[in-house]
Amino acid sequence: MNQIRASDAADMRRCRGDNLRRLLRGGYLGLLAAAIATTPSVAGPPYPVRAITVIVPFAAGGPTDVVTHIVTGHLAKRLGQQIIVENVVGAGGTTAAIRATRAAPDGYTLLMGHMGTHGSALAAYPQLVYDPVKDFAPIGMVVRTPVLVVVRPGLPVNDLADLIRYSSQHAEHIAMAHAGFGSISHATCTLLNTIGAIQPATRAFQGTGPALKALVAGRVDYMCDQIVGAAPRVKTGEVKALAISSVRRSPILPDVPTAAEAGVPSFEVSAWSALFAPKGTPQHVVDRLNAALGHALDDPEIRRALGSLGGEIPLADERSPSSLTGQVQREVSRWRPLSRPEAAPGGERVRQ
Ligand code: MLT
Repeated sequence: MNQIRASDAADMRRCRGDNLRRLLRGGYLGLLAAAIATTPSVAGPPYPVRAITVIVPFAAGGPTDVVTHIVTGHLAKRLGQQIIVENVVGAGGTTAAIRATRAAPDGYTLLMGHMGTHGSALAAYPQLVYDPVKDFAPIGMVVRTPVLVVVRPGLPVNDLADLIRYSSQHAEHIAMAHAGFGSISHATCTLLNTIGAIQPATRAFQGTGPALKALVAGRVDYMCDQIVGAAPRVKTGEVKALAISSVRRSPILPDVPTAAEAGVPSFEVSAWSALFAPKGTPQHVVDRLNAALGHALDDPEIRRALGSLGGEIPLADERSPSSLTGQVQREVSRWRPLSRPEAAPGGERVRQ
């Protein structure tokens, strides 16, 4: 028996050797190796299997919050899981962004970042502890939003030139609201102030939602807000819009001139909001979220909801993670020269 087993084993070894040689000769191993190398990444473990949190870096009721609620409603249905929207305010949106970079990179904590958190905040906070490119896994662009210059109804100005003139005549009294250093409202109005040599007192809020309420109440004089946040108040006449920062007028506010038409062509800005995950998030999770986001942006109901507020839906070629990386890089370069105004000679006055 032992002899028979020993010879069987020898035969089997020989046979395996022959097969291996045949495989090598026929290039099977080479083909196998090539197949492994070119097979798209495996689907990965099921995702998502529990609720996802999307952090909004500003107060409820502002444009980032509104956009997030519109889009996550669809994403939750598409992904089959609940999405919790958490408002984490402070430091012009950077508190939330820092929180997102420190979350587990598992797809269950995401950030609705924007032109501020991933662009102008770097100019406002030179020591910022995150890198908007290296510390995030971009998911995709959500919406583009022109910025409106809006004033309280009682302010005796009707256009941008009026605002600039009035500000120079009432330099001691003019007050601007914003959502914190580095936020979109802060960066864009700082740009306007630089162009128009406006030197306002400033008041920071936890988002442009509460800032806009202060404007309606007449506690501040003007601010720059994304159209998604300000348009409803412009339509009801609670605030006056002097100009829009885009190249063309918005179809939802056709009477509001572009900044170029209002004589300030260099006030041209397109803000945006986009979804980010912490760096290290698995590729299959990024792919799943990007696909779900694309589905949401093609949904007629979502397009109607964002469009009715003046939001511009990104085109198909603007929706990839790599396109978003390019946008972030351009934004960082664009705002870099804008240093903190209060660091400049003369300083910035703050109204309490
Ligand atoms: C908000 O949602 O309150 C705004 O996006 C804040 C900002 O101006 O950046």
